[in-house]
Amino acid sequence: MRLVHLCAVTALVASPQSFVAATGGNNFTRRCSRLIETFKQKDVKVLFSGYVTRGTNLTFPDGDPSCTNDVVVLADMCRLQLNITTSPVSNVIADVWMPVDWREKGKRFAMTGNGGSSGCVMWEDVAYTAALGFATVGHNNGHDGMSGLPFLNRPETVKDFAYRALGVSTTIGKIATNFFYQDTLTTSYYWGCSGAGRQGMVAAQRYPEEFNGIIAASPAAQWNRLAASIMVHWYTVGPVDSPRYLTFPQWQAVDAEVLKQCDGIDGVLDNVLEDPLKCQPHFEAMLCTDGQTWEFNQCLTVAQVEAVKRIYQPVYGNKGRYVYHGYQPGNDPILAFSQVLGAPSEIGYDYLRYAYYSDASWTLPATEDDFLAVIDDLLARDPFDANADNPDLTRLKNAGHKLLSYHGGTDGFYTYAGTQDLYDATARNMSLSSHDLDDFYRFFMIPGLGHCAGGNGAWYIGGPSQYGSGGTGFDPQESLLIKMVKWAEDGVPIDTIKGYSVDETTGALAGAVREHCRHPMRNYYKGTGDPALPSSWECRFSSLYP
Ligand SMILES: *[C@@H]1O[C@H](CO)[C@@H](O)[C@H](O)[C@H]1NC(C)=O
Ligand SMILES: *[C@@H]1O[C@H](CO)[C@@H](O)[C@H](O)[C@H]1NC(C)=O
Ligand SMILES: *[C@@H]1O[C@H](CO)[C@@H](O)[C@H](O)[C@H]1NC(C)=O
Ligand SMILES: *[C@@H]1O[C@H](CO)[C@@H](O)[C@H](O)[C@H]1NC(C)=O
Repeated sequence: MRLVHLCAVTALVASPQSFVAATGGNNFTRRCSRLIETFKQKDVKVLFSGYVTRGTNLTFPDGDPSCTNDVVVLADMCRLQLNITTSPVSNVIADVWMPVDWREKGKRFAMTGNGGSSGCVMWEDVAYTAALGFATVGHNNGHDGMSGLPFLNRPETVKDFAYRALGVSTTIGKIATNFFYQDTLTTSYYWGCSGAGRQGMVAAQRYPEEFNGIIAASPAAQWNRLAASIMVHWYTVGPVDSPRYLTFPQWQAVDAEVLKQCDGIDGVLDNVLEDPLKCQPHFEAMLCTDGQTWEFNQCLTVAQVEAVKRIYQPVYGNKGRYVYHGYQPGNDPILAFSQVLGAPSEIGYDYLRYAYYSDASWTLPATEDDFLAVIDDLLARDPFDANADNPDLTRLKNAGHKLLSYHGGTDGFYTYAGTQDLYDATARNMSLSSHDLDDFYRFFMIPGLGHCAGGNGAWYIGGPSQYGSGGTGFDPQESLLIKMVKWAEDGVPIDTIKGYSVDETTGALAGAVREHCRHPMRNYYKGTGDPALPSSWECRFSSLYP
């Protein structure tokens, strides 16, 4: 489905003169294929260099089967593949895509990231970004595939995942770009969602001088806390034969109940909660009574209601220590509940046994009580700073660079409240009001956006990992990255983010358009006017955040 969209859009991405320029047997093509001999850097080996035309369905036959190994290229470009040594026992494979219209489009550089803890390049993001004219890098995060097995007994590979793969591919990617174009790039950007959002926070905290603008979408930062809480949700709900277990349709019913109770809070019944944390659902309303059953009455048992209540509550460890938020009410059920649908989260489990404890025989403790000791570890130790939760962004501020983070208000994987915490922690750490932070750090909760893409609301905002998931009808120039360029280079701040309701399957506009507000403001319906129009809403400080 996704690929159909990518194919459909190639016609929309225009670069007519570049095609002529690039195929005329000129230096671009020749210089590109010769990079394999000419580009020499310490600790770098060129694996491939060659010209690729827009519309090519590029496939990666050697790619790990757990990754997506094909993408439709959206720009005529030079593709350079590098093997970068990061230690005697570790390396990063990086692709640098250098479009023919790089000069005309501003001589910019961009870095993309990886989902979860994976070693899969997000090719869709690489292709989209290169189509915007950026020399764009995608890298494998220091290992291949979705499994955590490559971390086993390889701390250097864990270090690559935590931050180093991003660092070295940025450095080498920039050198390669300048070398190939025989020019100097002007500005640099990072953008990515989910695990790639975590890398965005790494970029802001560890490499702030490297990027003029950073978009960290749904960042899986506070990594250890996330891993711990995901496992606690698993203990809460249990395996399929647990009395607390809910089937997927039952979780969908929970979601429907949340909307039933809370959709009206923001003044409009549109299946979207503008301020999800204002919703305090009363799940006892779903209880079976008097011999009722799910089959006949779509009700839940006491044990199930207890499980549901709990996964919306914060998770605590030993001695009542706070670990992480529960889910926010109003989820994209597909992701949230796939984590509690009969098996513990694979990402979390793999990270714990292979990366964190580096012990293939490590198994999840039988009970939640026994898991408390693991939580103690996770709160105490983060060897390579995978958490990316350093609130001190003084370097970013001093560099005059910009960070925009956003997070879907119905993200069913992990809640936006964690990303909001990071923003609020920076406010406290640097002793800055949100007005002061506005100069260099803005956070947006996007109501009705699920995890990265899709959702009930005006979710399409031209963000990373959105283009191939329903966004192909949009002009790439409308992307959030271009808005970031205008903020970082021209000082035009991103005050609101325009979102469109888009049918993920067809890519068709399917409802409301909204100007999403930046934290700590929320959208309020003015009381009159078509709620599907942005003009019927206004950003105000929420009563929760005066
Ligand atoms: C690209 O090639 C792959 C592998 O042959 C194939 O699975 C995919 O459908 C192709 N995509 C398009 C858009 O043709
Ligand atoms: C390659 O570039 C050189 C110098 O910029 C120029 O003299 C030459 O004509 C170019 N060759 C082609 C085939 O465009
Ligand atoms: C990359 O280089 C390392 C040595 O640093 C080597 O072990 C590895 O096989 C190389 N990978 C590829 C894909 O060439
Ligand atoms: C801010 O964060 C840094 C890095 O974690 C820490 O060293 C510093 O003490 C914090 N400052 C305040 C005022 O909390």
